[in-house]
Amino acid sequence: MTDLDAFITGLPKAELHLHIEGSLEPELMFALARRNGIALPYADVEAVRAAYAFSNLQDFLDIYYAGAAVLLTRQDFHDLAMAYFDRAAADGVVHAEIMFDPQTHTARGVPFSEVIEGLLSAIAEAQARHGLTACLIMSFLRHLSEADAFATLEEAGPWLDRIAAVGLDSSELGHPPEKFARVFAAARERGLKCVAHAGEEGPPAYVTGALDALHVDRIDHGNRALEDEALVRRLVDLGMTLTVCPLSNLKLCVVDSLDQHPIDRMLKAGLRATINSDDPAYFGGYVADNYRAVAKARGLSRGDLAQAARNSLTGSFLPGEAIAALCARLDAFVDAA
Ligand code: ADE
Ligand code: ZN
Repeated sequence: MTDLDAFITGLPKAELHLHIEGSLEPELMFALARRNGIALPYADVEAVRAAYAFSNLQDFLDIYYAGAAVLLTRQDFHDLAMAYFDRAAADGVVHAEIMFDPQTHTARGVPFSEVIEGLLSAIAEAQARHGLTACLIMSFLRHLSEADAFATLEEAGPWLDRIAAVGLDSSELGHPPEKFARVFAAARERGLKCVAHAGEEGPPAYVTGALDALHVDRIDHGNRALEDEALVRRLVDLGMTLTVCPLSNLKLCVVDSLDQHPIDRMLKAGLRATINSDDPAYFGGYVADNYRAVAKARGLSRGDLAQAARNSLTGSFLPGEAIAALCARLDAFVDAA
């Protein structure tokens, strides 16, 4: 391990943009397929990995939803999340806010209770095993209807006190934030925070829509906001956190190469950019791999990397005292490094 590797791993950091279904490694996909008697359209793990060549978001989503078909029981969701937490802890993640897509599972007849109880039991075990904290972001699939999102919010009723936020993901183009304004208002009335994918493939107007129609607390991705200077100023003035995902951006062709990744421009502009893995099993790296990749490609300094980690702590939904304690831990680590 180089000094820089050790610095990146040792930085106390939060992961704020992680789809738990996107952490399903091919090995676990095969193990769960066997356990549940499900046939996979791949001969082996290598064939699965070979299929992970995407030219846009939709290419990826088609394969990602197909992979999720092996997840049936609460034990499956527990095992999936524990595998992620073990990796996250090894990467220096002290807090994780993980998205899950209930509609991907309830549409296949998997009860909402199985999904969420499996995830909640993993969160408790991760806290005991690694001392890391985690919370849940229930994401609506934007290619589905407003009515379907409302039904999902309704179904989540008994667990709302154990869900931190609602999110918005899946196919961005053609599904602007405004489509979900009423669902997000209902979620906010129930005390939930709000996040939304915006500006990954969609235009800057979708980032504006996430602010004005959804009143989000964070923007997931936000890359295309950079095309609009006034919008960048607005995001800076708001102190809005952006959950940026470099390896995802590369694999989904949001950038042609990591050499062109805008993370350093974002940080220099004063945007509260963070570094995250999105769907690590599909994009070839967990959170520390993402830090390392942009450190190398964009020459980020230790100060930049520490700023990204600090942004992840201050942009989290943890209580203020917990954020202050983690920031003090980060400062002590940086001072000692
Ligand atoms: N679902 C999982 N990963 C996603 C991404 N990067 N964008 C939109 N929806 C997603
Ligand atoms: Zn995402």
